[in-house]
Amino acid sequence: MTSEEIRLLAKEADSRLDSVHSSESLEAFRVDYLGRKGRVTRLFEQLKTLSPEERRLLGSSLNELKNSLEKKLEAKVSSLSPPPRGREGFFDPTLPGLRPPQGRLHPLTQTIREITALFERLGFEVVEGPEVETEFHNFTALNIPPDHPSRDSFATFYTREERERESPFLLRSQTSTVQIRVMQKRKPPLRIVAPGRVYRPDQVDASHSFMFHQIEGLMVDEQTTFSELKGILHLFLRRLFGPETKIRFRPHFFPFTEPSAEVDVNCFLCEGRGCSVCGGKGWIELLGAGSVHPAVFEQVGYDAKRVQGFAFGLGVERIAMLRHGIPDIRLFFENDLRFLRQF
Ligand code: DAH
Repeated sequence: MTSEEIRLLAKEADSRLDSVHSSESLEAFRVDYLGRKGRVTRLFEQLKTLSPEERRLLGSSLNELKNSLEKKLEAKVSSLSPPPRGREGFFDPTLPGLRPPQGRLHPLTQTIREITALFERLGFEVVEGPEVETEFHNFTALNIPPDHPSRDSFATFYTREERERESPFLLRSQTSTVQIRVMQKRKPPLRIVAPGRVYRPDQVDASHSFMFHQIEGLMVDEQTTFSELKGILHLFLRRLFGPETKIRFRPHFFPFTEPSAEVDVNCFLCEGRGCSVCGGKGWIELLGAGSVHPAVFEQVGYDAKRVQGFAFGLGVERIAMLRHGIPDIRLFFENDLRFLRQF
């Protein structure tokens, strides 16, 4: 063994250490040089065979080599382990922040707010009524006769305990109930819109649900005219479906209005030529409306000779489906975020 050999071994060890990039190869390096049969260890054993003079000289350079390798090994261990995290860890202030997920309103809530906002600009006030109702508010006060099919339990949900009693409770099947509640409490003039849930025991399919939403409108004053009704609805529908929107009143029957009409808009998809959205008719039925029946005024204690009014009712899901091209009503209630995030 010569001091030249030791110098070369040190050089070689240094360059090998440079190519160590994993803790596995670092351990292999340690075994290879400093292990029990490692190359440095073996040189220490050779010292015994040397003269005392050489032993002192080479012994001290060997010790130096061993100490410097141990130090370098230690430095390498800490350079290979991941940097500490947390407060004292590395923080890069130039990274973009984490964006918290943003919520939004359900498309039906958006539609309701949009519609009621339009009516608020026309002087209508938004009011709400209960979803559990009496037969009186849902039927009797609205001039719906006792034998009318909509009173049947096939058409209206009754609360079970109350079904057999004289005046049962039910889940309202229309928001027209709110007309009655408001008129019972207040005197004309009135201008209200009433959004809310209604319930009907319908078989669920692409266009039917046992629960859906309506918006009711009511205006009562000493004098109101049918042309006011027409004007307000036309204004409303133009704002909702665009300035070119045409409307059409078709004679119809509702027990609580006389005369009554169904209101159609021209099909915005085919512009009247006929397509699958309008069923080939060129018109889309959107709401029911009419002049408040005197019998309704009498039920709430108004003098039917001194007040007049008009009312209307529309389905919220239907309007939202038409405006956004939504093919299936069930999408509104499944709460699938892939659907809801689109609005
Ligand atoms: N309540 C009716 C329904 O559920 C809708 C309706 C029609 C409301 C005519 C009205 C009206 O206020 O005047 O089908």
